Amino acid sequence: MKIGFQKLALPTKGAIVVGVMDGGTLLPLGAALDEQLGGLLSRAMKAHKFTGKENKTLSVFGDTGTVLLYGLGDGSKIDELWSENAGGSIIGEILGAGDKEASVLFEPHGADGAADDGAAVRAARLAFGGLLRTYRFDKYKTKQKKEDLPVLQKLTVLTDEAPEAKKAFAGLSAVADGVFMARDLVSEPANVLYPTSYTKRIEELSELGVKIEVLDEKQMAKLGMGALLGVGQGSERESRMVIMRWDGGPKKQQPIAFVGKGVCFDTGGISLKPAGGMEDMKWDMGGSATVVGLMKALAGRKAKANVIGVVGLVENMPDGNAQRPGDVVTSMSGQTIEIINTDAEGRLVLADALWYTQDRFKPQFMLDLATLTGAMMVALGQVNCGFFANNDELAGKLEAASKTAGEKIWRMPLGEEYNKMMDSDIADMKNAGARWGGSITAACFLERFVNDLPWVHMDIAGMAWSSKASSTVPKGGTGWGVRLLNEMVQANYES
Ligand code: BES
Ligand code: MN
Ligand code: ZN
Repeated sequence: MKIGFQKLALPTKGAIVVGVMDGGTLLPLGAALDEQLGGLLSRAMKAHKFTGKENKTLSVFGDTGTVLLYGLGDGSKIDELWSENAGGSIIGEILGAGDKEASVLFEPHGADGAADDGAAVRAARLAFGGLLRTYRFDKYKTKQKKEDLPVLQKLTVLTDEAPEAKKAFAGLSAVADGVFMARDLVSEPANVLYPTSYTKRIEELSELGVKIEVLDEKQMAKLGMGALLGVGQGSERESRMVIMRWDGGPKKQQPIAFVGKGVCFDTGGISLKPAGGMEDMKWDMGGSATVVGLMKALAGRKAKANVIGVVGLVENMPDGNAQRPGDVVTSMSGQTIEIINTDAEGRLVLADALWYTQDRFKPQFMLDLATLTGAMMVALGQVNCGFFANNDELAGKLEAASKTAGEKIWRMPLGEEYNKMMDSDIADMKNAGARWGGSITAACFLERFVNDLPWVHMDIAGMAWSSKASSTVPKGGTGWGVRLLNEMVQANYES
């Protein structure tokens, strides 16, 4: 969908989105449209008891196409994030209608009708939300009928701040590209997306100036990555580690680093998962997809920061060469791990990826993302992403970015009582503890591979996939975390 910004005036074609304040009050241009339509909007509002309550909508058919009335409430809730969600909801309503174009009357809603400072950014965020909602993954649908496809091709936000809004949108458009790439990767089935084919997809980022390095199994063996390699050894598909670098900051500035779990398919291995729902495990590479999408967003908007992205790509399969429960592997850190459950594989991949990242790049901080535990879904559902941090300042930056970007997070505890539950009788640690507190003991396991540097672990098990559309996220792969981490980088690490 094309996005445009133009001067505020009544459009002459396409769908029109009109804001309505509490009590059914139209803003000046909305009122002019109502008059032009012979009072159609007022009559429809009355007939349907539409009073402009916040986020309520009413579709009416006008002369040029759909008129979508959108409730603004008393206007007090309208901020940047609200506007983004409104944009998504608007597109959710209009996408299925027959209009090729839609225009949003972005009228000042303040009491005195005066324009306010944040309007340009809010208009840009509205368009961003709308764009995010248009995402579809239908490449494997060969029998779609034309009438079932969305016809909307263009969204124009009509605002007094059009030039400023357009400028603000440029960066957001790059973020949307990153979110879309993450969604694409998460949605791909595992017969198409496996470590080597995934690597090729990542290599496409070099067009944007991202530097890419790939470690194959031989190189990883040489580095001693026995934890990661053990996970992949039961698969016909070779494992890979991909390192992405975006050097947009000052030359001497230490980088920041993002690390992702990229289990392209998780059968559980010899500790095989039950059949029901196993297809979901194609998105067990969701953490890595967020890292790749983030790198795309940062490069796309030429972020002024030095950023490393590292993803460990493996497939967890149970063949004759597969790792067994009871095996002991040696990680790159030198620490040994007793494999209790081959289905606790994500932490093994991350153990080597985290160690490699801090060892080689000495980053300012390290943040990993992983669809790591079912226990995290039990704890927080699909609303908040649970995160763990060894550093309050870094946790605070993440929480602030979360409020701005609208991707919700909730801090979880670490602690020695949990950590010791991962001690092993035969090795330095085991890869699975008791059932209770499963997401916390998993985080404690990871912490054993983090030296003295600020670190965050985000368990996105509940976030990577949605079974129900929300305002800016259609159902399916969500690309969760790209917006949040882009905001965190932008707010704190760009000169
Ligand atoms: N990829 C799964 C976790 C998962 C489950 C993510 C469902 C999203 C939806 C992970 O590799 C796993 O299997 N974890 C086990 C760990 C256990 C064996 C200690 C789990 O959560 O049951
Ligand atoms: Mn698993
Ligand atoms: Zn897994």
